[in-house]
Amino acid sequence: MALSDMGAALLRRIDPEVAHGLAIRALQIAPLPKPPADDPILKTTVAGLDLPNPVGLAAGLDKNGEALRGLARLGFGFVECGSVTPRPQAGNPKPRLFRLAEDRAVINRMGFNNLGLEAFARRLSDRPRSIVVGANLGANKDTEDKAADYVAGLIRLRGLSDYVTVNVSSPNTPGLRALQGRAALDDLLGRLSEARAGDPTPVFLKVAPDLTADEIALIVEASLDHRIDALIVSNTTLDRPESLRSPDRGEAGGLSGAPLKARAMAALRAAAGASAGRLPLIAVGGIDSGAEAYARLRAGACAVQLYSALIYEGPGLVGRIKRDLAARLRADGFSTVSEAVAAAR
Ligand code: FNR
Repeated sequence: MALSDMGAALLRRIDPEVAHGLAIRALQIAPLPKPPADDPILKTTVAGLDLPNPVGLAAGLDKNGEALRGLARLGFGFVECGSVTPRPQAGNPKPRLFRLAEDRAVINRMGFNNLGLEAFARRLSDRPRSIVVGANLGANKDTEDKAADYVAGLIRLRGLSDYVTVNVSSPNTPGLRALQGRAALDDLLGRLSEARAGDPTPVFLKVAPDLTADEIALIVEASLDHRIDALIVSNTTLDRPESLRSPDRGEAGGLSGAPLKARAMAALRAAAGASAGRLPLIAVGGIDSGAEAYARLRAGACAVQLYSALIYEGPGLVGRIKRDLAARLRADGFSTVSEAVAAAR
């Protein structure tokens, strides 16, 4: 077991939010070695961004963009930080983060706790250039005009990140998910498109898994109409599958990890069906192995992201997924990731 994976095993024994704080601290100060170069078969392009591999870190681990140097050493092909809101925000009362170990899952109702846009922008201006970094935007809980918060984020972070994600799918900010309805989404995406004003930074939209195929199809059309560059599918679910066994399964918040797999895959398939290759898709939700990552690529995703599985498997998981992905691509006769994605259409 690698030292960092032993660290992860120890962190699992203490309060989840304390463990999270320690993990961020360790990523800031530990002299992590540079990861080995990626197998060239994993090299790919998503919405114009060149990635050394298609395995990314999902938003929420580094909400303030304060551990990017350490995260860049874990072998991810890209790292998304945030969600950031314009004004600093304390988030919901603790406890608000629960490990469902028996289910290999997490429930969180953090509520966008973060240090705000100014602190985030300062961190990003000193970001490592060795890795593709995404900035995930949220809205303050007490903002009436939520769309204005995303516009403020987009403008303040111009030139600081390689892509921006518009997160309208966190379940822990009242009213946020309502932005996924067609009228609200048209208003939001229209205003964002105006604010972009020719800036080439790609903008991604992150959606919930708790949508019907028809709702997802509407989001795909709105995204194409407003020149969104990719869809991230998906955020956490409010669903509580019957299979859950852990004592904390009744806690309120978004469920992530293994029990989210089926829902996230169904949402991905709906998005792939509706977009028919017109909009790049990034798959998230329960990805914990090379097999699962490969299944998402074969369902039409051009890259994947993960978070919860890292808590249970440790950072060594990233290397294992990449090795397995490369082997699966070769076994199926593909010489690039994009060939495998295209074959899914
Ligand atoms: C998240 N996630 C998340 N997503 C987002 O867009 N903004 C955020 O601030 C957060 N915060 C957050 C906190 C915690 C503790 C967790 C576990 C998750 C959602 C995350 O990016 C991802 O979409 C889901 O967790 C599903 O992927 P996994 O965890 O099953 O791999």
